[in-house]
Amino acid sequence: MLQSSDHVTLMSEADRLRTKSVATLLDQHSDRVSQLTVTGAGLTLDASKQLVDEQALEALAASAAGADLAGAYEQLVTGTEVNITEERAALHTLLRGTAQDASPTLANEVNTTLSRMRAATEAIHSGDHVGAAGQRFTDVINIGIGGSDLGPRMVCRALDDASPKLRTHFISNVDPHDLDVVTRGLNPQTTLLVICSKTFTTEETLTNAKRARSWLIDGGVSETAIGHHVFAVTTNLTAAAEFGIGEDACFPMWDWVGGRYSVWSAIGLVIALGFGWPTFASFLAGAKAMDEHTRAAECTENLPMMMALLELWNTRYLNTETHLVLPYSQRLEHLADFLQQLTMESNGKRVTLDGQAINEVTAPVLWGSAGTIGQHSYYQLLHQGNRRFSADIVLPLTNGDVDKDAHRKLASNALAQSRAFLIGRSAEESQTLAADKGLASELAPHFEMPGNHPHSTLVMDSVNPQTVGALIAAYEHKTYFLSVLMGLNAFDQWGVELGKVIGKQIRATLESGEGLDDLDASTAALATSWREANS
Ligand code: F6P
Repeated sequence: MLQSSDHVTLMSEADRLRTKSVATLLDQHSDRVSQLTVTGAGLTLDASKQLVDEQALEALAASAAGADLAGAYEQLVTGTEVNITEERAALHTLLRGTAQDASPTLANEVNTTLSRMRAATEAIHSGDHVGAAGQRFTDVINIGIGGSDLGPRMVCRALDDASPKLRTHFISNVDPHDLDVVTRGLNPQTTLLVICSKTFTTEETLTNAKRARSWLIDGGVSETAIGHHVFAVTTNLTAAAEFGIGEDACFPMWDWVGGRYSVWSAIGLVIALGFGWPTFASFLAGAKAMDEHTRAAECTENLPMMMALLELWNTRYLNTETHLVLPYSQRLEHLADFLQQLTMESNGKRVTLDGQAINEVTAPVLWGSAGTIGQHSYYQLLHQGNRRFSADIVLPLTNGDVDKDAHRKLASNALAQSRAFLIGRSAEESQTLAADKGLASELAPHFEMPGNHPHSTLVMDSVNPQTVGALIAAYEHKTYFLSVLMGLNAFDQWGVELGKVIGKQIRATLESGEGLDDLDASTAALATSWREANS
């Protein structure tokens, strides 16, 4: 946890820098870009547009040393019980082959599961494993929610190409419309289901799994042959068996993998099925390369550590209210959705590890979307609203064999927005603009933009299995390092559990009408309206 003396230093550093202009710092220090650029595992973080200078960076590095981030990383990867309220390790790094020596028995289980995943994937692709009517599979639907959906969904979109091995689809919401739309137009005889649920108790997933099974049966797959079409990924093999999924079709997960950190496990099976085993193996390798970088690099050369320190600096010391993730790549359109769970389910907490109240803000409110689409929507607020924000602009440099002109336009938008966040538009320029437009000078403030919005640009050569693996691993480590700096548990999610418990009570009330008196007046009235509408 951050030492109180480091906290005091960082507060005074922030006071010193708060009113400084980053554009001026860039003008004054010719080596600023190289000093504030960090490279690791195929990713480059340009932090030169963050509101920091050498002195502030030293203070941040000292606080990282004070909180022993390097030691915390070792604890994570060697299986220390970092999730204290669930009494578990968080060994997602083991799934990509990191520090296997520290946990040999678990590593064996991981490797056995990877071999099984590979065999299952190759049997489907070769046509050894076919559907009930002997037809080869063309489509795979992943059924899951939260960590059992967002990671694989994001990665499959990122790696999508014109000739996937199988077309990938995702069903998550318990709203029946989700399943109905996804299955519309698919052929049950050539569709495979992967039911992903760490617990195999999640209402949404079990409801969708049952409906998907009926869809297969209605589509001519006999009940006895349904096993050809269904895989499950879970820690709860008993519940999966009760659901009718035999051991051979079940891939294990382990309680030492958090849902939002599980894309590297069999939860990522849909990625392998969609794009082939070598692709999945490269994805794991990209993440492992980021683990190695994180272990080896000094603090100010360490990409995830720098990301964590800058997020701490922005949210706690420069008081930014929200953090945006702005990928200039349609392939990364689901990145912010994935990072919302990773960041906010992990660090959206209010007490320290020993149960003391945290008075400062913890996780930032994170949002964002693929670059140019957002530009025609909420970027107005970013440029001229009065909220303080920080941002990560994610910029793949190349985009395969695509229309070069469109690709250039995409990149120019990314660079233009980064520059606009930096320089804004001054009062003087706004006066000139108003005059050019023939408007009264009192209207000039309507054209002003403060600029000086702290942000980083995360650059990669292209969106490919390795860089996507490295990108997710970097954000995972950033999230963990932040939890260490803030002294909280990044691996539980008790806040989510409350809604599940109340949800069960209310479902019974909606079904029977009983229990209305136990509810508050507002919820009771809403439940009554719902019952009337559905009677
Ligand atoms: O939303 C809460 C949560 O527990 C997440 O942490 C998890 O990723 C998701 O539900 C799904 O859980 P499961 O994989 O057990 O169905």
